[in-house]
Amino acid sequence: MPDFKNIAVVGGTSIIGQALIKNLLTTKGEFNAVILLTRDPDSKVSKELAALGAETRKITSELSAGAIPALAESLKGVDALVSVIGAGGHSDQVHLIHASVLAGVKRFFPSEFGIDLDLHAPSIPFVGAKVPIRQLLRSQEIALKLEHTFVENGYFLEGFFSPFFNWQISGTSVAVDIAGTGDVPVTVTLQADVARYLAEILRSDPAISRNKTLKFEGDRFTWNQARELVSNALIHVPGVKTSFSTTYTSVEKLEKRLETAQGHEWVQVQLLLATARGQGLLSHNHNKLFPSVKPTSAKEYVAGLVV
Ligand SMILES: NC(=O)c1ccc[n+]([C@@H]2O[C@H](COP(=O)([O-])OP(=O)(O)OC[C@H]3O[C@@H](n4cnc5c(N)ncnc54)[C@H](OP(=O)(O)O)[C@@H]3O)[C@@H](O)[C@H]2O)c1
Repeated sequence: MPDFKNIAVVGGTSIIGQALIKNLLTTKGEFNAVILLTRDPDSKVSKELAALGAETRKITSELSAGAIPALAESLKGVDALVSVIGAGGHSDQVHLIHASVLAGVKRFFPSEFGIDLDLHAPSIPFVGAKVPIRQLLRSQEIALKLEHTFVENGYFLEGFFSPFFNWQISGTSVAVDIAGTGDVPVTVTLQADVARYLAEILRSDPAISRNKTLKFEGDRFTWNQARELVSNALIHVPGVKTSFSTTYTSVEKLEKRLETAQGHEWVQVQLLLATARGQGLLSHNHNKLFPSVKPTSAKEYVAGLVV
């Protein structure tokens, strides 16, 4: 049995969280308990995970300072807490950390799963809320009582080939607007693969990941190479005309857009800019630490996308 016997996942109703919980439950008896901490145990997804064997514990809808004692109660007996909480809850992880200390949790995985924050967060304000969480976990106050692991994986493959990243894909027609020159590489990883990697970390000797940043990389490509992959996968149906349109938006133009962008567009432009500036590329990876996790290549993913 792994050293971490009772695993809790907060935000576990997300795509990555569901994949993680399902993976942890695959080997019967390997963990004592796989616990979903959710604001809504009656949601369809919570019930599905419970039916598979996850224990569900309801947490308060506001993860405020006042909720720390109740959160600590929900974390009783937990060895490792994995947070895959969505962007709206990133700052509230401060309270989850204090609740974890109170409850005697051994390891905390904050909700990150993106770019190299130490290197690039200063120029990407959208990811800023993750930084104080790293700082708190590294602080003397917390580090002596609670271990941490930070997981980086670049961009999610699913998100990259989406309208949010300016791709319009249907079987026989594709349109893409590329950020920058299209020649800058970016790291892309499937969410299900990140979940498998996380599960392996939890199964393995805790020393391998104790107080470390682990970089997991599914694949890497430039926008132009991604364009090529989709172009090659384009379906040719007799009698149906295929079309592929490519446009480019320069870094300067994106920077200009960012000056007035708000809400959804503010997030989108920063993430596009990061790909064009090379900030989406992991400098190296730790894939070899867990060789059983064979990541899905971008080519494999795209082949399933254009159908
Ligand atoms: N690298 C990439 O390309 C990429 C892309 C997207 C996301 N991410 C990262 O992946 C992680 C998960 O993101 P996601 O988009 O998958 O999450 P999400 O679906 O927005 O949210 C995940 C879960 O968190 C809980 N939650 C959401 N907002 C909350 C709040 N304000 N307070 C408390 N709980 C809240 C919900 O669970 P319950 O309702 O069950 O409580 C929700 O199902 C984040 O760290 C995000 O930054 C990375």
